[in-house]
Amino acid sequence: MALIFEQFFDEDSFTFSYLLADSLSKECALVDTVRSHIEKYCHDLHSRGLTLKYLLETHIHADHVTATGGLKKLFPQALIAMHKDAGLVQDFLPLQDNTTLHLGSISVEVIFSPGHTDHSLSFYVNKDRILSGDTLLIDSCGRTDFQGGSSRAMYDTLQNLSKFDPGTLVYPGHDYKGRRVSNISEQLNTNPLLKLSLESFVVELESWKLPHPKHIAVAVPANLNCGLV
Ligand SMILES: [Fe+2]
Repeated sequence: MALIFEQFFDEDSFTFSYLLADSLSKECALVDTVRSHIEKYCHDLHSRGLTLKYLLETHIHADHVTATGGLKKLFPQALIAMHKDAGLVQDFLPLQDNTTLHLGSISVEVIFSPGHTDHSLSFYVNKDRILSGDTLLIDSCGRTDFQGGSSRAMYDTLQNLSKFDPGTLVYPGHDYKGRRVSNISEQLNTNPLLKLSLESFVVELESWKLPHPKHIAVAVPANLNCGLV
């Protein structure tokens, strides 16, 4: 058994998307896809001879439009999967904490990770890496000021993720400084937010006062329709 793993980067929104596949069965999943890269994903799947089983989303994104709907049209057998309360208006496979999906012998365990949104998920893949979406970012975490976000919930989620084995790799949903991967041990050492008490953490996040993502008014309704509008 071997995991095939690829990280894609969208330069417009600084978004990471991921390909996960089992080298033996050739079953694969794409995670947090970006609509403008559909051709690239198709080329990758075809060149590797992979069968698309799941289109996973860590949450409804506010900064880019997903490719799930477009890819579902091209690969009708693929299931769009995200948190059961994400509010999708298209058919999807509802996920919740502790759901485990399989790509051949590769496991993908669902970790409910509220904080950035009220329906965010992380995915624990192959028991050696976490795709942390916009929850645990490298030396930071996702903002919590819209889409049902909560800095208190984020604190608890980060505490939970911090308890994974120190060698567990962390692959975030975004990075704005060119970094691509970290691990739990490194984050415990370098992520200043993981060193704060709950009250200090809440004060810190509420001090951020970030502008809303420039595409939020388009992206959220589009993503509730899987990028088909
Ligand atoms: Fe997000």
